[in-house]
Amino acid sequence: MSQLSLTPADSLLGHIAYAEAPPDTLSPVLPNGSILLRDAAAERFLAMVRAARAERVRLVPLSGFRSVEEQTYLFFTLKAKRSLSAQERAQVSAPPGYSEHHTGYAVDIGDGDRPDTDLETDFDQTAAYRWLTANAARFGFELSFPQDNAQGVSYEPWHWRFVGDRHSLETFYKR
Ligand code: DAL
Ligand code: ZN
Repeated sequence: MSQLSLTPADSLLGHIAYAEAPPDTLSPVLPNGSILLRDAAAERFLAMVRAARAERVRLVPLSGFRSVEEQTYLFFTLKAKRSLSAQERAQVSAPPGYSEHHTGYAVDIGDGDRPDTDLETDFDQTAAYRWLTANAARFGFELSFPQDNAQGVSYEPWHWRFVGDRHSLETFYKR
């Protein structure tokens, strides 16, 4: 959280610029291929899902890699629909080019037994969240946006990022 001494050039409305992961660095984390993560993150994520499952906790990936184009739609089209100002939208969604999801290291996680909490702050009341808090670090994952984070982004208990190898660690911590 205190990793940030932002320079104006690489930040926008509290978010940091990230390069899009090249397609050949991504692997599926669902059988239908709809959600992708960077190879190392995908491998550790699936190991984490298995470990949780052994303890009767169902971790479900809701969103992984996102292109700048997809983020453009999310940020501008949905923002306009909901009539949010740029500042308001940036509290809950990263502008295109500035989402951790571009890196292929960020994953939004749900509790398979509590889909009503998907992408909601009360996800932090689920068994999945409690399990992640106790175990995610063993698999190289950490919460990106805890309460009162230095970036001023809204609390996102569902959004976890992989920092378990050199490239991912440098992606998020090297400034
Ligand atoms: N959802 C967070 C803000 C991101 O995309 O980085
Ligand atoms: Zn997310």
